This record gives sequence, structure tokens and C-alpha cells, in this order.
Amino acid sequence: MNISELRTFEHDVIVVGAGGAGLRAAIECSAQGMNTALVCKSLLGKAHTVMAEGGMAAALGNVDHRDHWKVHFRDTMRGGKFLNVWRMAELHAQQAPERVRELEDWGAVFDRTKDGLINQRNFGGHRYPRLAHVGDRTGLEMIRTLQDYGIHQGFEVYMEYSAMDLLKDGDKVAGLVAMIRDTGEFVVFKAKAVIFATGGAGKGWKVTSNSWEYTGDGYAMAYEAGAELMDLEFTQFHPTGMVWPPSVAGILVTEGVRGEGGILVNSEGTRFMFDNIPARFASETAPNAEEANRWLEGDKNARRPAELLTRDVVARAIMKEVKEGRGSPHGGAFLDIANRREAEYIKRKLPSMYHQFKVLAELDITQQPMEVGPTLHYFMGGIRVDADSQMTNVPGLFACGECSAGMHGANRLGGNSLSDLLVFGKLAGSGASDYCRSLVNAPTIDEDQTTRIIRRATDILNKERGENPYLMHDDLRETMQNHVGIVRTDVELKKGIDQVEQLKQRYQNVKAEGASQYNPGWHEALSMRNLLITSEAVAKAALLRTESRGAHTRLDHEGEQEEWLGVNVVSRKGPDGHMQVEKVARPEPAAGLKEIAYAELEELEATIAQEG
Ligand code: FUM
Repeated sequence: MNISELRTFEHDVIVVGAGGAGLRAAIECSAQGMNTALVCKSLLGKAHTVMAEGGMAAALGNVDHRDHWKVHFRDTMRGGKFLNVWRMAELHAQQAPERVRELEDWGAVFDRTKDGLINQRNFGGHRYPRLAHVGDRTGLEMIRTLQDYGIHQGFEVYMEYSAMDLLKDGDKVAGLVAMIRDTGEFVVFKAKAVIFATGGAGKGWKVTSNSWEYTGDGYAMAYEAGAELMDLEFTQFHPTGMVWPPSVAGILVTEGVRGEGGILVNSEGTRFMFDNIPARFASETAPNAEEANRWLEGDKNARRPAELLTRDVVARAIMKEVKEGRGSPHGGAFLDIANRREAEYIKRKLPSMYHQFKVLAELDITQQPMEVGPTLHYFMGGIRVDADSQMTNVPGLFACGECSAGMHGANRLGGNSLSDLLVFGKLAGSGASDYCRSLVNAPTIDEDQTTRIIRRATDILNKERGENPYLMHDDLRETMQNHVGIVRTDVELKKGIDQVEQLKQRYQNVKAEGASQYNPGWHEALSMRNLLITSEAVAKAALLRTESRGAHTRLDHEGEQEEWLGVNVVSRKGPDGHMQVEKVARPEPAAGLKEIAYAELEELEATIAQEG
């Protein structure tokens, strides 16, 4: 192979991934004078960001003036079961309001309050109405705005380019090799810094809200380049994915439905969430329908309904109903907004939910309840980064958004993802720009590395025969769903790890039929490498963490254990080429943060009021 014949694009910074985090990072790099490229394997506008429908969380205090970044920070830490990287949760709560206002300045058309302010709605785990929203299409509006604004900032966009692997010069990032999906052509991107904003890996599971792009590409490429992965045991199952009819199975029903008053009932018509209130949230949750209904009617002294507990709690409660024989006919629970709000209100507040299910499922949510259950939605874990700069342990490699770890701890609050994308997208952009300015010599491209990356890809086409990548993917999804699912045990996780190991062996022999021009089978085979690395890291981290915390539930190790609060599980590629998974001590937070996170709410609010 003659590497010099490959087309090479040279930029200061390459951003991989065009969701909210990638777009925001690219905007920042351009604003800081960096020659920037945005590389995405899909089309602009097609990002999982649009699946965060209900809103972006920021303590603007527009609907309840008592909201404050400290209350948002406290909610986030409690939702994350205190395992969040303290500094990230602090930066996020402090900076989210500014980022939301900036998005508005750039053209986002938010719903308004009667006074003309950005409207905010309730969501699980958030003390106050905090989610700035655009009906139930907030993620879509965010992407639209960032794209419209971003393309005028001068960065180059490379659409339908799949990043294959990073190139390094010594220990530093030097660029990456990508493949153009329709022609199969390989190209080299030379860069001083690379920012991954590649999202999660929901496609490893059978029931997921994620679309085809979410195959853990950033995790795997970072891991192969020597970066550390952290907290991968924490995979979030959104409690309300559709379970029926099959045409919409797995599709998300926004938490906004519960935020607007929807309730969960079992097959006996019982509102079961009141029987599932954890001690930690008891003092802040309405214990019965009477108080919850007062809250719905706007009584500011009433506590939030139990349907707005954090996602991990709600998802487990639905599974409990199913296990104990009170589930809906297809293995979920009923989510009812039809009997709680007028049809016109539902259509106005939740237009996409109404239209999507009417068209795709012949279900009128203003008249009938939905049948819902947990769907793999989000990875709390990801690439380990420095909180302020978002740089990994590999110099020049940055990560932000879902593919980075730390912000959400053991469980993410709904709506914190969209604000996370903006806050940490911007920080990654500025971290990468600082790094580029600090480099004395631009890195150079190593031809052998380039050849190895390309050969790994073309070998899949050049075999005589071998394993079908689609069948392998199906097997992986069965494995992860059945053995590394919403509830876990030592026995099941070991089975999962064994099966992933067998799949890795089979992968050595994976074969895609056809040529390199637009070849979905080949793309599927290439993604399988990334899904396998991610799945191995998830299963091994889940086996190591012998406690239940947030989204990680071990039936054989119930409850949170103090000793586990002190550590993160970190995975990296060992010198022997095998995955090493180990506990790493968590640093202590800056002074004052613990006091905020663990404060009684009333006490914290009194302090905030005193501070003025
Ligand atoms: O339920 C939702 O609208 C999803 C939001 C999120 O994942 O943050």
C-alpha cells in the first residue's frame, strides 16, 4: 500500500461526532481561531441528541425563583449517588444557565412563560421546574440551532466519514484514519488535537432508544490509543421506552410525559411508584396521590410525585411489577397522561409524542395509556477526562458529551445530558485550543500505523469466507440484554463475559461480502470491534463493582457500600494487549462541595437565601 497516495486533510483540531457536544466543541475551536474539522459517520442533524426530548436542565429560576446552581448541583450529585466527578457536576450546574441563554441568542426558539421568559418543566430528580424546553423536541432544536450557527463559524464538515482509529506521534495524538462510507476510500486526517464526541453504545443491547450510530466508536478508539475508560458499569435504562406495539418497541417516551403529569399504573390499576420511594428521597417526595395531585395543580408546598423519582428507581420499580405478575400484557407498565390532562394540553406540550405514536403505532395518547418499560438509553461511563479541559491521559485526545465519563456518576438525571453537551463541548473546545497553542512541534503521521489501521479494515473484505457480522451483532445484543441487563448477578455477568470472549474469537474471522463501495455489511463488521471492546469493559466493570448503586443493580450485592463510594472502576489496555480493569481511588472534592451535596434541602435553601 502506498500511503503517500492517500488523501490527507490537515487541521488543528478534528472533532469526531456531530451531536450537541461535537457541534459545540467545533464552534468553540473555530471561535478560538483553530482550523477545525467536524467528522461524522452519519449526516449532520442525525444525532442521538435529538432523543433528549424533554429539555435541558439549567437553574435559570424562571418558573420557580428558588432554583439556584447549588440546588441543581445537589440534585445531580444525589441522582448520581454521589459518585459523580465533583468538579464536573459543579462546572455543569454553574455554567448551564449561561450556555442555555447563549443557545437562545444563537436562535433556539424555547417555549415561553406567561412573562416571556424561557419556560421550564419538571423532570425526575430535579427539585424545581428546571428543563428549558421546546415542546418535546428540545434536542432537535438544539441541533438545529448549533448547526445553523456553527456552519457560519468556518469549520469544515466531513459527513459520512467513519473514523477508524487514532494516529499517534510518540505518546501524542497526531490525527486519525477515516473511511468514506459511500466510496470506501481511506483518508488521513492530520491534526494537533482530536476531540471525541461520539456518544454511547446502546446498540450493544436488544432494547434500546439508540439509533444505528451508537456503537461505542469513541470508547474503542480511545482504548486502543491508550486512554482510560471509567464507570462503564453504569448503563442507564430509561424507564419509559415503548414495549408495544412492535413497530415502536424501544422508542423513547420522554420523561416530559411524567413531568407534565403522566402517571404509571400496573395491570391492577395501582399507582405503584408510591410503594417504591427510597429513603434518600422520602422527605422530598409526595407519599400519596392526594399530595401528588396538589403538586400537579400547582401547590408549591406539595412535594413532587413519585413518578418523578430518578430513572434508576423508576426503571427498577417497573421491572418489579412485571416480575411480581402485575405488569402490562407485554411486560411493562401503563403510562397514562390521557386521564390526567386535556387532549389539547397534551398535543401542545407533547406534540412529537402525540404524532409519533399516532402515525407509527395507531395509538392516541390523548385517549389511551402507553405500554412502557426500560430501554437502554445512555452511558454514564466513558472516556476518563480532566474536568476543566476534558483532556484524556493521551496528550491531544479530548472527549466530551456522552462518550466522556464522570459528570453523571452512577445515574444521570433527565435533561442533564443536553446541558452537559453544551457545557463540556465548550470546555473541550477551549481545552483543545489551549493544547494546540502549547505545542512546540506539530505531530507527524506514522505510515506503519496508517497501514495497520487500513489493513485491519480491508482484511474483513479480503477473506474467502467467515462469520456474518449481522448474526454476530444479534448474538451480542442477546448476550448484553440477558446477562448484562438492568439487574445483574455474578453468575449472569460471568456468562456474559464468557460469551463476549467467544464473540471476540469469532470476530477474528468476521467476513463482509462484496466490495468496499457503500457496503453496510462491512460497516457493521467494523462497528462490531467497537461494540465488543465496549461490551467487555461494561461486563467486567459490572462484575468488579460488588454493590448496587444507581443504574448498576447487583441482586447478589444489594445496597450501596461505603467502600465503593471511594473508587471508580477504570479499564485500559494492558501491555499484553488484554483489558485491565481495576479500582482507582476518587480524589476528594474542593472545599464546600460536600456540604452542599449532603445538605438538607431546607438548610441549603436557607443559606442560599441568606447569601442573597
Ligand atoms: O426523557 C427524555 O426526554 C430524555 C431526556 C434525556 O435523556 O435527558
